[in-house]
Amino acid sequence: MTSNRSIGDNPTVDGGDSDSDSGVEYETVETPVLVIGAGAAGARTAISLAENGVSPLVIGKRDHGDAHTTWAAGGINAALGSRDPEDSPAIHAADTLNEGHMLNDPAGVETVTEVMPDRIRELEDWGTPFNATDEGAVEQRYFGAQSFRRTCFVGDRTGEAMLETLIGRAQELEVPYRENVQVTKLLSDGERVYGALGYDMNDGSFLLFRAGAVVLAAGGYSAVYDRHSSRDEENNGDGPALAYDAGARLMDAEFVQFHPTGMVAERYGERWEGRLVTEAVRGEGGRLFNADGERFMERYSPEQMELDARDVVARAIAREIAEGRGTENGGVYLDISHRDRSFIEERLPSMYARFADLGVDLAAESVEVAPTAHYSMGGVEIDFETGKTGVENLYAVGETTAGIHGANRLGGNSLAETVALGKIVGDHLAERSFADRPVLPASQQRLAREHFADLDAMAGEGSEVPEELLGELGDLLESHAGILRAEKAVVRVRGRCRLLADGRRSRAPGGPRAP
Ligand code: FUM
Repeated sequence: MTSNRSIGDNPTVDGGDSDSDSGVEYETVETPVLVIGAGAAGARTAISLAENGVSPLVIGKRDHGDAHTTWAAGGINAALGSRDPEDSPAIHAADTLNEGHMLNDPAGVETVTEVMPDRIRELEDWGTPFNATDEGAVEQRYFGAQSFRRTCFVGDRTGEAMLETLIGRAQELEVPYRENVQVTKLLSDGERVYGALGYDMNDGSFLLFRAGAVVLAAGGYSAVYDRHSSRDEENNGDGPALAYDAGARLMDAEFVQFHPTGMVAERYGERWEGRLVTEAVRGEGGRLFNADGERFMERYSPEQMELDARDVVARAIAREIAEGRGTENGGVYLDISHRDRSFIEERLPSMYARFADLGVDLAAESVEVAPTAHYSMGGVEIDFETGKTGVENLYAVGETTAGIHGANRLGGNSLAETVALGKIVGDHLAERSFADRPVLPASQQRLAREHFADLDAMAGEGSEVPEELLGELGDLLESHAGILRAEKAVVRVRGRCRLLADGRRSRAPGGPRAP
């Protein structure tokens, strides 16, 4: 994607003039399709649009190339059958439905699993350096609850390598990109979307994006939990919240995935709290032990052991810790030291290097892990043939959406979903005509001015610190709606969240602070 800090420099995006009717200045940017989110889902959507002659604008809230996708480590699923020829898209679909407790959208699952072999070949053609078998096929390994070895990988930096490839392809197609933009509201009358409002995170200046269609590829909400695998400022729920505010329907919001093996701050420092130790460690033979030295998965899942479904393994670890068999740092041990050093270095290079930096030799000793909020299965309800939400001109893709993963996602299916649905949504949108964009209705212009005035007031005088509000919410969710939860506690936390929000609303509103 072409980095585009200066909109005026970009031939595909009109330079906008400032508006000062309300006393608040903002820049207007015109684009046929605005893609909000610059990870794999957004990039793949943009590639399809550009390949079909529509030039979208992609915006991201981080630096170019540094989206959350880079943290997706272990791999991406596709029934290629490189190792196990008996595998097929139908068995991939069955594993996905089983892991999702049959609460997935079956047609959506079929769509994704069916196209995945083609998406992997395409990534390979565009340059993703997948690990290969001796015969030169894309190498595949086990992830939890998979009938066959189906997870394709680039060591343990699969998401990073994939995103580099997708950005390279988008750059070839001259897709414009603008970084460090925070979107705060969609322009919507509840029936139809006209664009988005936000601000430049570098200088705080306000931005109005006028678009024929908006695609939300802005991630999920797992980072609202206190202990989570994302960086603090991502997966905060932007995508689902923007969609809901614009009139779209959300579903399955209670389905949050806890990855079994997150790092433990007490052992590795605050910076690493909740960050993933990739499932690939268990996929390559890693074993779990409690503080008594017992390989406890024998009690919970004697057949599948450490490679049972994520929810089963995560709950088992949580129970060991809750019942006093955890380590003094609040975790359990994950050990792969029975594997050769050279094998670990080749298959798990990032993990090996990260722990080496922390003074831990993965080839000689175990590491301490505990469950961490990792993925939101809930989100925006969409049509899986098109990406349409119920609101005209509003589309969604990737973790922002709900339905593919049911109640619990199969590891390796999140990267799969991004490229499978990204292409479908981009192809569908490219069939639309964006030649005539009607002028922005007066009601939407008013909405924009009022929103910017509100943001301006918050930045100048807000008495709330957003991080504190998020901290309170994170603690509440962690303690009442975490991995081990009871219905009563979940109902109670819903009420307390409402009180928290109402209390805040009745005082001076929190929001973006002046940069
Ligand atoms: O453990 C992991 O590498 C995570 C993969 C995933 O969530 O799909």
